[in-house]
Amino acid sequence: MLWLKWKRWVTDRFLLLLQETSTGLASVQTKSAASPELVSGLVYFSSPSGNTHRFVERLGLPAERIPPRASEPMLKATQPFVLITPTYADGEGRGAVHKQVIRFLNDAANRTLLRGVIASGNRNFGAFFAYAGTIIAAKCNCPCLYKFELAGTDSDIARVRQGLDLFWKQQLSISQ
Ligand SMILES: Cc1cc2nc3c(=O)[nH]c(=O)nc-3n(C[C@H](O)[C@H](O)[C@H](O)COP(=O)(O)O)c2cc1C
Repeated sequence: MLWLKWKRWVTDRFLLLLQETSTGLASVQTKSAASPELVSGLVYFSSPSGNTHRFVERLGLPAERIPPRASEPMLKATQPFVLITPTYADGEGRGAVHKQVIRFLNDAANRTLLRGVIASGNRNFGAFFAYAGTIIAAKCNCPCLYKFELAGTDSDIARVRQGLDLFWKQQLSISQ
């Protein structure tokens, strides 16, 4: 019974977040009025330990990977996207966003197409669990849509799929 209550709470939270974003999106949308055709995209980062890569693979949605190494040419986003990123802070919350993700978001053209962030981490980091999502949401003025642990659970996968589907439908309705 408790589990069902919790499950309901999490889904409501995601949906509530979507409602909150709808007003925010109206302002965001004006930024890219030039690209009426709104196609959904996913961009993600994963270090060689590959947890986030496994999460994205299980999501089964088209996604582009930010190169793990600085020696590789950086990805250029071509459509509005949601970013999925792990967290790498020290014990004090510093350095939560990986350098490669910062490099990707430092490109204004990429940043303009950012619509939301989904972050991951390890709950052992306590208050800094999935902290990269909080940082990027604040710095890039976009919603942090969801947080999951390591490679995520089956219900994380189901919720994120459902949430993204709603999120992009909402964006489409806002852009029309
Ligand atoms: C050096 C280091 C620092 C980390 N710092 C955090 C942290 O501050 N908060 C958190 O939630 N997880 C933290 N993590 C856990 C990672 O975010 C987690 O293992 C994630 O699944 C890694 O994703 P990846 O395998 O796709 O790179 C840290 C992991 C490492 C190795």
